[in-house]
Amino acid sequence: MSGGQIGNTCVFGLSWGDEGKGKIVDLLSSHFGLVVRFNGGANAGHTVCVDNEKYALHLLPAGVLHEHTVGVIGPGVVVDPLGLIEEIDELASRGINVEKKLKISERAHLVMAYHKIEDRLSEQASGSGSRIGTTARGIGPCYADKMKRTTAVRFIDLLHDDDLSGRIRRIVAAKKASFQALYGDDDGLDADAVLADIDVGRTRLSDLITDTTELLHGAIQSDQQILFEGANGLLLDIDHGTYPYVTSSSTGPHGIGAGAGVPASVLKHRIGVVKAYSTRVGAGPFVSELADETGDRIREAGHEYGTTTGRPRRCGWFDAVSIRYAAQVSDATHVALMHLDTLSGFAEVGLCTAYRIGNQTVQSFPACTSLLEQAEPIVEMLPGWNGDLRSIRSFDALPESARAYVQRIESVVGVPVSIIGVGPDRSQTLVRDPLRNVLPVPETSTV
Ligand code: GDP
Ligand code: IMO
Ligand code: MG
Repeated sequence: MSGGQIGNTCVFGLSWGDEGKGKIVDLLSSHFGLVVRFNGGANAGHTVCVDNEKYALHLLPAGVLHEHTVGVIGPGVVVDPLGLIEEIDELASRGINVEKKLKISERAHLVMAYHKIEDRLSEQASGSGSRIGTTARGIGPCYADKMKRTTAVRFIDLLHDDDLSGRIRRIVAAKKASFQALYGDDDGLDADAVLADIDVGRTRLSDLITDTTELLHGAIQSDQQILFEGANGLLLDIDHGTYPYVTSSSTGPHGIGAGAGVPASVLKHRIGVVKAYSTRVGAGPFVSELADETGDRIREAGHEYGTTTGRPRRCGWFDAVSIRYAAQVSDATHVALMHLDTLSGFAEVGLCTAYRIGNQTVQSFPACTSLLEQAEPIVEMLPGWNGDLRSIRSFDALPESARAYVQRIESVVGVPVSIIGVGPDRSQTLVRDPLRNVLPVPETSTV
């Protein structure tokens, strides 16, 4: 680990998820002692590729792959205890032991079997027009119980609630009745099985339950560097995304106050990650989508299949309207532009700079789903480039049209593109000034 005052940093997605956040978090982690997840749950799938080894992290912060980092799962995360144990064990089987350096907030909520059942049943019952296309990980139902309060279970309850078994039995009975009434099915939901899951969670995870809020404030007081790892993406944010086709948490730097218990004012850098084109998995408006051969070509070139669900991702040209909006809402200080290599070989590449809605040209991002669904993309075509970019390590060595494309993105989004991805591996990354001065990237590609 290198020292120096880098400043607390948040890495988050500027689009609809899967932007390459895992890679950037892993890349930066050598400079941070603590890596913190503050939102979402196992709906996230963050890929890290190091030395031909590929890791997919769902609940664990991607930064825990580094030996020196402490991983923190903050109060705002919804945690499937069995999924987390599986992830810990899977990494251990590959020689990476994270159990002793992982902290789970006492305040974090548990995703239980009935949340996953409800997620599935509710999606199945929705018509194709209103289905969100969730990851079926129980995220929305768990956050709904958190807001409802009386039916929620937190990690602290595993240690201090003497009536937890009784409460779980009452919650399960109510859930069964409600699922039967709403869906005519409860998928075999059984209180004893839920209690057995809780026992497994308590046995394996009790030692990890911590007052992470105090831990993080202590770290801030002693000038330790903290890296906050956003899950999902700004356009999936519960307040600022393409509602209702969103996830149920605050996905950007604004989420760290609620989700980690420390104010967002501690952040020095807010690095918004986005691909050189746009993708979306699940339903919802996507103005620059290419539902044609060009979209298929991007999908195959970029291996655009979901890390969590394996679903094919919808692909389209870089949607500068939505990304400019996301950068504004999150006050991004830097953009990390991933997958520039994937666009090699296209004669021209498109940049959606405005929407046509009716007879109006619109440059701000509409809140209304039906307006977004009617919107036509206004696409500026720029010259493409050829050749494999994966071995290139400096901006100046990129083909001229690739550089011009990046510069055009900087000008339309209004934020410097300080990191560029030219391949999935940690080493396949370019870092530009001014970030290069504060975040020197490791030359080697070892964990
Ligand atoms: P996350 O959820 O934001 O962490 O992103 P995912 O891991 O779900 O999806 C990003 C995918 O792109 C993963 O398969 C990464 O290995 C891959 N990836 C990340 N950056 C690059 C890049 O610059 N070029 C290429 N070709 N692949 C990349
Ligand atoms: P990472 O962290 C891509 C999408 C789902 C669905 C909507 C709601 O890997 O970028 P949910 O299960 O959260 O209720 O689903 O949000 N979604 C993601 N899409 N990457 C993610 O995470 C996502 N997390 C949620 O596809 O459209
Ligand atoms: Mg992902």
